Amino acid sequence: MHHKVTIEPFRIKVVEQIKMTTDEERINFIKNAHYNPFLLTAEEVIIDLLTDSGTSAMSAEQWAGIMRGDESYAGARSWIRMRDAILDMTGYKYVLPTHQGRAAEHLLYGNIGGPGKVFISNTHFDTTRANIEYSGATAIDIAIEEAHQPEVYHPFKGDMDLIKLRNEIEKNGAENIGAVILTVTNNSGGGQPVSMQNAKDISLICKEYGVLFILDSCRIAENAYFIKDREEAYKDKSYKEIAREMFGLADGTVMSAKKDAIVNMGGFLALNDEKLFNSCRTVLIITEGYSTYGGLSGRDMEAIAIGLKEVFEPDYLHYRITSTTYLGDKLFELGVPTIRPIGGHAVYVDAKAFYPHIPVEQFPGQALAIELYKLGGIRACEIGSVMFGKTAEDGSLIPSNMELVRMAIPRRVYTQSHIDYVVEVFAELRKNKEAVKGYKIVEEPPFLRHFTAHFEPVS
Ligand code: F0G
Repeated sequence: MHHKVTIEPFRIKVVEQIKMTTDEERINFIKNAHYNPFLLTAEEVIIDLLTDSGTSAMSAEQWAGIMRGDESYAGARSWIRMRDAILDMTGYKYVLPTHQGRAAEHLLYGNIGGPGKVFISNTHFDTTRANIEYSGATAIDIAIEEAHQPEVYHPFKGDMDLIKLRNEIEKNGAENIGAVILTVTNNSGGGQPVSMQNAKDISLICKEYGVLFILDSCRIAENAYFIKDREEAYKDKSYKEIAREMFGLADGTVMSAKKDAIVNMGGFLALNDEKLFNSCRTVLIITEGYSTYGGLSGRDMEAIAIGLKEVFEPDYLHYRITSTTYLGDKLFELGVPTIRPIGGHAVYVDAKAFYPHIPVEQFPGQALAIELYKLGGIRACEIGSVMFGKTAEDGSLIPSNMELVRMAIPRRVYTQSHIDYVVEVFAELRKNKEAVKGYKIVEEPPFLRHFTAHFEPVS
């Protein structure tokens, strides 16, 4: 029998209480949080879609692994298991464990970056860009045109523009390119997948110019699902084979294990180049920890080794991508504008189209995130001019090119009824949307203002 409902392929053994709140309570909570969802406490939130990073539910096998964790300082059994799982998945020669993705980025980009160097990516994630710029280097984003058009369908909207890639290498000189970084899936571009064909073409161009090619692989399994589903030549390959082939096209990878290793903390850097590995290892030992734990407990490494196997299970991946699409399709049916097609880990609502009456200077994405909270206790994240807007010399706002609200889905945490609840809140939000007003910033720090800024409603 063909079943229409994709059930969660797990049973729930341990539960975590959600505290229900009233409309009146939430109006107070968000006011006290200065209208910034990052300043809410977790207890004030009913459904937390702020991020899919480190928020996943571990399996019974992973929790069993936690008990097996070997806490030896050097050469722990858990490290060997984590290392072997990564070598097996990537095919690379060397691995360094780190406490999370940005630590791996810091080791690598701190090493190969510096003033005069240029990094080219489909889209640099914030921490990637920050680590590159912090080293004194420049970061350039060159996703394909379709990546900037929310409503346009493209099966691999995360692809890199190959003509721009060649132009940037020629323009800056191959010797000045720190690395080409392919982020799969492209988080800042809507969680959109990258095709194997695109990775192959990038690999050839990098080889031709002798440029280092790095994968940001934190959602590599989710990306593999889309390749098997949408790229004809891969329909009979396993997800793991697809991932392995993609790793094989690059020279190394940084991975935040907080995503597709389905753990709460961890990351790694894997490379083929021995010299580069040795010099990153020196910095790791100085800043993170010895090279067989890198800031992680043995039990964390054990959970990563197990998570990296579970994430490629077909039933899991099918459920994962189907459940994200489920939310996106329901919102589409309601006429809520989103980035289409739906990506792997999140649904991105186009707040500029949802609230056309709110000017970008009054942050329509922030307004939507606040309405979601007030009406349903749902926490989502503005990805628009609060996060990426810049201030011109005359004090006016240089807006971000899109005003989005990201609803990221933690892995194995929420059931379909939680998601149906989110859909119901959107149905309600649609009703009175002309009455919703924008916000102004009343206090902000000099960097990464979205985390701590204070807002007030525009009167
Ligand atoms: N690269 C990508 C593509 C990411 O999405 C993230 C984190 C990182 C690197 C950094 O990893 O957090 O372990 O240091 N993304 C999270 C998010 C924070 O919410 O999208 P980290």
